[in-house]
Amino acid sequence: MGPFCRDHRNFYPLVVGVLTLLALLYLDFPDHFSFPILWQTKMGFVGTNSTRFVVVDGGGMEESTVYVNGWNSYWLMEESVWGDSRSRVSRMLRRGAEMGMSVCRTWAFSDGDGPNALQISPGVFDERVFQGLDYVIVEARKRRIRLILSLVNNLNAFGGKAQYVKWAQEAGINVSSSTDSFFSHPTIKAYYKAYIKAIVTRKNSISGVKYSEEPAIFAWELMNEPRCAANSSAPVLQAWITEMAGFVKSLDHKHLVTVGLEGFYGLKTIERSGVNPGEWAASLGSDFIQNSAIDNIDFASVHAYPDSWIPHADLEAKANYLSHWVDSHISDGEYVLKKPVLFTEVGSSLHRNKQRLHDGDILLKTVYDKIYESAKERQAGAGALIWQLLVEGTEEYSDQFSLIAWNHPSTYKLIIEQSCRLRRISAKGQTNRKLHQKDPCFGQVF
Ligand SMILES: *[C@@H]1O[C@H](CO)[C@@H](O)[C@H](O)[C@H]1NC(C)=O
Ligand SMILES: *[C@@H]1O[C@H](CO)[C@@H](O)[C@H](O)[C@H]1NC(C)=O
Ligand SMILES: *[C@@H]1O[C@H](CO)[C@@H](O)[C@H](O)[C@H]1NC(C)=O
Repeated sequence: MGPFCRDHRNFYPLVVGVLTLLALLYLDFPDHFSFPILWQTKMGFVGTNSTRFVVVDGGGMEESTVYVNGWNSYWLMEESVWGDSRSRVSRMLRRGAEMGMSVCRTWAFSDGDGPNALQISPGVFDERVFQGLDYVIVEARKRRIRLILSLVNNLNAFGGKAQYVKWAQEAGINVSSSTDSFFSHPTIKAYYKAYIKAIVTRKNSISGVKYSEEPAIFAWELMNEPRCAANSSAPVLQAWITEMAGFVKSLDHKHLVTVGLEGFYGLKTIERSGVNPGEWAASLGSDFIQNSAIDNIDFASVHAYPDSWIPHADLEAKANYLSHWVDSHISDGEYVLKKPVLFTEVGSSLHRNKQRLHDGDILLKTVYDKIYESAKERQAGAGALIWQLLVEGTEEYSDQFSLIAWNHPSTYKLIIEQSCRLRRISAKGQTNRKLHQKDPCFGQVF
């Protein structure tokens, strides 16, 4: 060894020491402690190739297919506003990762006069809440979780489209009181576009990464469950989706865009109406095929709630119904739309009742099995997200479909099995990777 090497060796412990210190800072600081991030998990962006999701590696060259097992926790931004509750957000993301899940869908909106509204009035933001959203994104990336960020609610919770209509009226603009004006009135559309622009071009205050450049964002979702008040508004909704999806793409070339549909077939595809849960579903102004076929919509989104859609059916009828619902949408994705289909909300109220927990598992497993079968054939069933998961201390966000998964061992196990079997068939390169003992898929055999 020459003198040159010796110099290196003297220097080496110092370098190791500094790196170790940085790593410890990064990994082990209390969750609410903020400091500039010096190193971030490397991730590729998610794209599509025909009916599959693919991750494009850093170099932009190599594509690998991914199938999604994920979950919803709509409350992450809200809980990230205060320092004290941020640990619940970290815990939720960590536990999601511990179940092998890779995608979480959450609200990137809170409009109006709620205590933690992000948008207080059109184009006016509460920086404190925005920093909460920044935190959610940074924490997700730490755990290699990607986020589907929904941009507005169809429902009134957290403001929603009704809040936008109210803002326009308060500004003295002559808009009809029907919430359908959300989709058509130029002033309201301009409000919503300003909102999209503020979010998509936001620079994360913690990581310094622009949202439009953030690989931990899986996709933008235009609206949670768009519906119209009048069935005659269907063309208006269609035009709105076209315009807004195009607008997102004009600001952000890297991320996927989806609508946020429940997946009902509308009056334009009346031949499919037998798949709907009832006659009512065709007259909500949305249409799974037409809406999802829009060019700038990269993948189709579908929800599934047999317990609330056909509440009086017995378990077997619900499971059969659900099977048919999932088959129909996967087939549309494969043969009509030629796009991936993601079941972005799958909910079962039966999980609430401990005695009937197993029933909830049957419905969830029905969807999981369909996704797995589709994925094995490289077909359009690209994944499913359970609605919704909580951690201890977030019970206030509960609804009839919410659960703390690890309190329900059979459901917990089902989720992990789905994560692992999808991962196994996702990327060829990853199948042979030796799993760490702490990996949830370590030792899993199917
Ligand atoms: C899409 O996938 C096909 C089949 O695996 C592959 O041959 C093709 O190169 C991919 N397309 C792109 C743009 O990477
Ligand atoms: C508001 O709009 C409606 C429908 O476009 C129109 O009939 C009405 O005259 C307008 N009212 C005012 C005060 O401009
Ligand atoms: C549309 O809605 C109207 C009013 O609610 C109803 O009378 C009509 O039957 C609906 N049209 C269809 C084709 O469902």
